[in-house]
Amino acid sequence: MSSAETQPKPQASACEDYQVNRFLGLWNRIKGVVTLPPKLLPFLILHTLDPILFLLNILTIPFPRAKPESQHKWTLADRMLAKACQWSGWGKITESDKKMILSALNNYAAPGEEDSRSPCPGLNAMANHGFIPRHGKHVSLSVICVAIKKTYDFAPTFAYQLTSAAGFISKSSGDGKTWLDLKDIEAPNVIEHDASLLRHDRMFQPNQGAPAVDLCERTLQFAHPPKQPGAPGKKGKSCLNTESMSKALYERRLICSSDQDPNRENKVRNGQYFLPGKLKIFGAGNSAIPLILWDGRQDYIRPFFVEERLAYREGWHPYTREDPAGFFGLSFMYFMLVFATIEHGVGNIFTKKKKD
Ligand code: HEM
Repeated sequence: MSSAETQPKPQASACEDYQVNRFLGLWNRIKGVVTLPPKLLPFLILHTLDPILFLLNILTIPFPRAKPESQHKWTLADRMLAKACQWSGWGKITESDKKMILSALNNYAAPGEEDSRSPCPGLNAMANHGFIPRHGKHVSLSVICVAIKKTYDFAPTFAYQLTSAAGFISKSSGDGKTWLDLKDIEAPNVIEHDASLLRHDRMFQPNQGAPAVDLCERTLQFAHPPKQPGAPGKKGKSCLNTESMSKALYERRLICSSDQDPNRENKVRNGQYFLPGKLKIFGAGNSAIPLILWDGRQDYIRPFFVEERLAYREGWHPYTREDPAGFFGLSFMYFMLVFATIEHGVGNIFTKKKKD
C-alpha cells in the first residue's frame, strides 16, 4: 500500500463551508426576488378588481342572478381564477379536481375518524359535501380557492383573498403545489384564536376540528324572532343580523377573558387567553360570512354551525340567496363593510357597559 492511500482524505474546512453557504444564501435571495413579481401579480390584479366587482354588483341588482345550474359549469371566471392560483404557485387544477368541484352538491357525509378537519366550518362543510377531498388531507390551495368560489358563490377576488390567509400555514412540495391538511389550520393564533363563537378555547377543547354544539346554540339564540318590530326576519324566519353577531362576540370575549363561563365545570380561568386586535378582526370577519351567505336565517345557519352541512335540504342555494351580495358573487369589499359594522358594534357595547 502506498503512503498516499494511507493518508486521511482532506476534510472541507469550516471556511469553505461558510463560502458555500454564503453562495447558496445569496442564490436563494436572488431567486426569491426574481420569482416574487409573477407571484404578486395575481394578488395585485385581484385586489384592484374587487372594488370594480363591488360596484358592478350594485349596478346589476335589478338583473336576474346566475341560474343555480351555474354551480356545475366551468365558467370563464373559474378558468381565470384557476390560472391566477397556478401563477401564485398554488398548483394546477387537474381534470379530476374540476370534476370533483363541479359534481359535489347535496351529498353530505359526516367526517370519519381518520378525516382531517379544521376549526373553520366553511372549509369543513366543503369537505363534508365533497367540494374538496373528503379526507381533508394534502389539499392544494388552488383546489380550496376555486372550490370556495363554486360552493358559496364568492367573487373570485374574495375567494383568492380568503385562501391567501392559508398561505401562512401551507407547505410547498417543490412540484409547484402548495397544500395543507385541514387540521393544519388550527395552528394557534395564526388565524385560529380564543373567544370563538363555535369552539371553546384550545385550553378547554384541544380538538378544534369539531363544533362545540352548546356554543353554536348560544350564538343562534341571538337571532331576532320574526315578529319582533324592526327585526330582520326574512320569510317569517328567525334571523341573526350584525347586531346579533356583535352581542354574541361581546359575550364570548367577556366570558373567555374571565372565570365566568357557566359551561366550565371548574371555574378555571384560561391563563393562556390571547386575543390581540388582528385576531379580533378575524373573529368578526368569520362571523360576517354566515350572515351574508344564509341571509342571517337561523334555520339555514344551524346545520352549518352544528353539523357543518350546507342547508340544501332546507331550501338554501348560493345562487338564490336574498342578500344582494351580487351578480358577480360576494366581493371582499362587501364582506369588509359587514364585518366592520359587527366589530364597531362590539366596541360600542364595551363602551356603553363601561359607562354604566
Ligand atoms: C382558505 C380559506 C379559509 C381559511 C384559512 C379559514 C380559516 C379559519 C379559521 C382558522 C377559523 C377559526 C377561527 C377561530 O379560532 O374562531 C375559521 C372560522 C370560521 N370560518 Fe373560516 N377559513 C376559510 C374559509 C372560510 C369560508 C369559505 C367560510 C364560509 C363559509 C368560512 C367561515 C368561517 C366561520 C363562520 C368561522 C367561525 C368563527 C367562530 O367560531 O367564531 N371560512 N376560519
